[in-house]
Amino acid sequence: MSSVDTEDAPTAGTYIPAEYDKRLMVAAGRSSLELGSSIAERLGVDLTDAGLKTFSDGEVYCRYRDSIRGADLFIVQSTCRSDSQGLTVNDALMELMIMVHAAKHASAHRIIAVSPWYGYSRQDKKSAPREPISARLIADLLETAGIDRLVTMDLHAGQVQGFFSNPVDHMTAMPILTQYVQDQLGPVEDLCIIAPDAGRVKLTRKFAQKVGAPYALLEKERPAQQTAEIGYVIGKDKVRGKRAVIIDDMIDTGGTLAAGAQTVLEEGADEVYAVATHGLFSGNAFETLASSPLSGIVVTDTVPLPDGAPDLIRVLTSADILTDTVRKIFTDDSVSDIFQGENQLF
Ligand code: R5P
Repeated sequence: MSSVDTEDAPTAGTYIPAEYDKRLMVAAGRSSLELGSSIAERLGVDLTDAGLKTFSDGEVYCRYRDSIRGADLFIVQSTCRSDSQGLTVNDALMELMIMVHAAKHASAHRIIAVSPWYGYSRQDKKSAPREPISARLIADLLETAGIDRLVTMDLHAGQVQGFFSNPVDHMTAMPILTQYVQDQLGPVEDLCIIAPDAGRVKLTRKFAQKVGAPYALLEKERPAQQTAEIGYVIGKDKVRGKRAVIIDDMIDTGGTLAAGAQTVLEEGADEVYAVATHGLFSGNAFETLASSPLSGIVVTDTVPLPDGAPDLIRVLTSADILTDTVRKIFTDDSVSDIFQGENQLF
């Protein structure tokens, strides 16, 4: 019988030099420079310089200043417009893909796109013949570019996660927003939480349970794209004499909120506030909201607030949740622990 001499075989672990450390790096695209810096600062690392620039013909260029070989690279970029950087939604998306692709060819160990706002998420199914399912296309593009996983927040529909073959960490800003409502808009006996449409009922119920208030629902129609009409309030007895808080995933033109606030007041609410994760504020949103009966609006910084925002808009940071998420992904710990497993419920 032959035997193997194990005397000279290295002991477990000796193939890896003792001084080998996993490296965590954070870069930011130009639509999320501020958020990326906040996350890097909280993690205690410098923001990696991605050497981004736009050529005179509009093409985007990226070259990481330092080696990223073997690093877990977290690229923070919401795929949203940035007025201050002169970027459209599509510029931001292309920039993210180019940053991912550059990282892939520079041999990063894992490439994680941190896109708390996932542009095109509303186009997640065919609502009419001959339409694209653009949210699916974006998933394919990001995976083709080379992401290993995606961190995102309060998707328009959670099912978008299924458009990816790679893991998606779907985070939520709801703990920040419920806390704000409890602390700043209470007492809870005075509150009624409002769903802006039937699609938000599950989230609204959860939100209301967390806050400890009742909830009601707006009957919303979209007679044309980007036009919102609110018919009536389902559960109007809950609204009368209350401080109503409409909750949504995003505010775009502000049409839903302006019309919703008006209807809720007509049904006897004393005041109306709105909270949402993503504040896109496109078109005439600021004018629409400033002239609406809303008393206050709270969003998070997943999308940079454009210049000229009216005073009624307040921005809370999502950086703490995203920083915890990055830390846990890097150390292969449970991400849902951040929400005690409840992030899938929203
Ligand atoms: C709709 O389903 C969304 O949740 C938002 O209510 C909507 O996209 C907001 O858009 P806008 O501010 O343009 O009414």
